[in-house]
Amino acid sequence: MTTTPKNFSLFDSTFHWGISTSAYQIEGGHDLDNKQPSIWDVFSAKRGKIFNNDNGNNACNFLKHYKSDIRLMKSLGIKNFRHSLSWPRIISDINGTINYKGIDIYNRIIDECLENNIEPWLTCYHWDLPQYIEDTRGWANRDILNYFSHYINVCAKNFGDRVKNWMVLNEPLVFTGAGYFLGIHAPGHRDFRFFLKAAHHAALSQSIGSHILKNEVKNSMVGSTFSCSYITPYSFTNHDENAALRADALLNRFFIEAAMGKGYPVEHLEFMKKIYNYVLPGDEQLLKAQFDFVGIQNYTREVIKHTCWIPLIRARIIPANKRKVAHTAMNWEIYPESIYHMLKQFNSICDGLPLIITENGAAFDDKFEDGKIIDDYRIHYLQRNIEQIHRAKTEGVNILGCFIWSLFDNFEWEKGFKPRFGIVHVDFDTHLRTAKKSALWYRDFLANQNNSITVRS
Ligand code: FCB
Repeated sequence: MTTTPKNFSLFDSTFHWGISTSAYQIEGGHDLDNKQPSIWDVFSAKRGKIFNNDNGNNACNFLKHYKSDIRLMKSLGIKNFRHSLSWPRIISDINGTINYKGIDIYNRIIDECLENNIEPWLTCYHWDLPQYIEDTRGWANRDILNYFSHYINVCAKNFGDRVKNWMVLNEPLVFTGAGYFLGIHAPGHRDFRFFLKAAHHAALSQSIGSHILKNEVKNSMVGSTFSCSYITPYSFTNHDENAALRADALLNRFFIEAAMGKGYPVEHLEFMKKIYNYVLPGDEQLLKAQFDFVGIQNYTREVIKHTCWIPLIRARIIPANKRKVAHTAMNWEIYPESIYHMLKQFNSICDGLPLIITENGAAFDDKFEDGKIIDDYRIHYLQRNIEQIHRAKTEGVNILGCFIWSLFDNFEWEKGFKPRFGIVHVDFDTHLRTAKKSALWYRDFLANQNNSITVRS
């Protein structure tokens, strides 16, 4: 082993460090300026669906505070801001009528970012489907391809002159799986056929959306974002190893392989073969997306055990607390190597296409003490993940950036406001923002990250 000190630049100055948010989770203004209800407005209004019956009507009131919020980002040295567009703010009805007041809202946010030297990164769909589309069976109805194409065209035409970085969908597996099969997310269906149709239509929309953005937006960087977790079998029995292969095919490979033109990985997912009932002639070519980058969203790993009790997949996740391992407030295991393995796996699936970590972060039970939140555990979590990102990068994985989830504590879907993912604390009564220690750490990290560091190898 050599002990020579080696200087190298950890991440060069072209690396895109940023922060991620989404419309329904922070914006509020649920009926402002003619915004129509989304499936999340309707779902969270039903009693018992969301922890504490919370909803995103006001959330962080970002639409009211966006100017000071953007200044806050600037003061932290954040140069890249990922946010999503709310479809029901932009398109008012099933006939595709454009709501120019909604367009104005996003124009103001985009312009404010640019004036503050913050690059906007827009996700077109982060789960808040217009309810008027869900009323026609939403993602389960193939007509959505037309509605979605129109929406993406409107976004590209209205914002593409200033916004160059685009993501078509946020985590297609999560919104189709949790929304149409498990029923725990909006719109709350538990129907396998609905799920298969929704999954196929989401995969098609993702690809169609990427082509529209590439055609309409000059000099664009277009991608989409994918949930993923490193999968390990609970034991080295054939049963558990096969269950892990099925889980990997569903959780990590399904949408990205389709988008790369490799088809759905049904060789490990017998039960998903039925998706081909909804695949029409020509669809397989249509599924191939035109991406400049692929967004990786990783938080944890999953340990998988075979079970006969869960139909179809015949696999279950063994939760972190049952395994007695360190975990976050979401009961997600703290396992930094997961992001390394996912970067390697996606690098190989995507044949070296650039990758960006579009979400990574952690919820903890923060304590507000003397007006401060000393969240060293969050800093530690982020640092260890960044080390693993660096490890993948030095092994040749083409990684262009990393975005932390999230700027603010926000509406965490079915778990309401309880999990706090922000590097900035939000008081949901007063909407007062307080930078946590992790925000100050990120500020210092961003200020120093181009400096070379000394390591011993
Ligand atoms: C991801 C979602 C994001 C947030 C984080 C914690 O799956 O994309 O909106 O909820 O998890």
